Amino acid sequence: MASKSIICCLLFFFLHAAITACMGQETCTSVVFSSASSRLYTSCNSLPHLGASLHWTYHPSDATVDVAYRAKQQDPTGWVGWGLNPSASGMLEAQVLLAFPSSSDNGAPITVYTTTLDSYQPTIKNVTLSFPVYSRAAEYAGGFMTIYANLQLPKNSTKVNHVWQAGTLSGGLPATHPASGDNTLSKGTIDFLSGESTAAAGDSRLRRKNTHGVLNAVSWGVLMPMGAIIARYLKVFKSADPAWFYLHVACQFSAYVIGVAGWGTGLKLGSESTGITYHGHRNIGIALFSLATLQVFALLLRPNKDNKHRIYWDAYHHSVGYVVILLSVINVFKGLDILDPEKKWKDTYIAVIVLLGAIALVLEVLTWVIVLKRRSRSSGKSSSQNDTNGYGRQNLGV
Ligand SMILES: *[C@@H]1O[C@H](CO)[C@@H](O)[C@H](O)[C@H]1NC(C)=O
Ligand SMILES: *[C@@H]1O[C@H](CO)[C@@H](O)[C@H](O)[C@H]1NC(C)=O
Repeated sequence: MASKSIICCLLFFFLHAAITACMGQETCTSVVFSSASSRLYTSCNSLPHLGASLHWTYHPSDATVDVAYRAKQQDPTGWVGWGLNPSASGMLEAQVLLAFPSSSDNGAPITVYTTTLDSYQPTIKNVTLSFPVYSRAAEYAGGFMTIYANLQLPKNSTKVNHVWQAGTLSGGLPATHPASGDNTLSKGTIDFLSGESTAAAGDSRLRRKNTHGVLNAVSWGVLMPMGAIIARYLKVFKSADPAWFYLHVACQFSAYVIGVAGWGTGLKLGSESTGITYHGHRNIGIALFSLATLQVFALLLRPNKDNKHRIYWDAYHHSVGYVVILLSVINVFKGLDILDPEKKWKDTYIAVIVLLGAIALVLEVLTWVIVLKRRSRSSGKSSSQNDTNGYGRQNLGV
């Protein structure tokens, strides 16, 4: 039992460490531009998505702003873009600068286009924007693509909606960016005077989606399988009876409580999302809630150990339990595909599941060894019925 709590603690430690490691982020103030002598900015802002930052100097006398938009780019074969949207928020009608290599040759100069995004699949042309752009340049250095520009703020309004983006090229021109994850959230407002920036409304929604993901992955995706492992492998030890039962109930009950909270956030997110329904994820979620609730209530109807119907109850409880675990893991992966977070999150969850699987495998072998030994020892005796915690040969019928 002690080893069980150690495993629990290790798991939580592991999850916690992974979460903390993911929080660390570069801040924009530490950025030094490669042509540093001529490029110095008074303000900067680390943008919340796509590893990008915006640096600027605002000139109130003529309402112009010098900006540098800097974004992570593995190699100089893609495009980055940044721009203002004077008439709306988000991509449509945004007036943007796009930087991309002028040819596929390595080290080719970076071209800057100014484009109006008139649709979600805009034709990329170099056109004049609704506000003057007095200078433009771009460079690729050290894994970052940077656009430099001097532009006139529309109506001398220092608080503007802005958008930023990155993607790959097709036929030498910027191709449509991915329509999921961070690429749809890279928008917000920025105040060139105060330096204040707010993320797009989508951002609080993303936070809630992340909360939903963490709650459900931990409860349905980790605690439930852990609770099953506790029940299946601890009860073979005579000394762990009835402790395994209370541990199992505690684990599943906390998983259920956290899981229901996660389930609630999912329903709320679903009711708010207009036009998009993830049918598979939603239906599995509803089935999971129903089955898990059934398990909780079935506990109250559990026949006594010696009741002749107990064997049916056990069969029901175990099969529903396994279905819940299987569906939970499937739904966590479905959720990860919808949320499309950075790869490390999916990798972390895969690692946790593999770890639990490995633990279960080792314990399964150990259990069989113990049970077979017990059977061969007691085969000579008259009563071999109730030699294992009163469960007899039902022991491995979990
Ligand atoms: C632009 O606005 C700022 C702040 O309100 C003001 O100080 C500045 O004089 C304005 N500049 C122009 C050219 O209107
Ligand atoms: C885009 O248009 C602007 C303004 O007409 C011009 O100065 C710039 O050189 C053009 N850029 C390219 C890459 O054609």
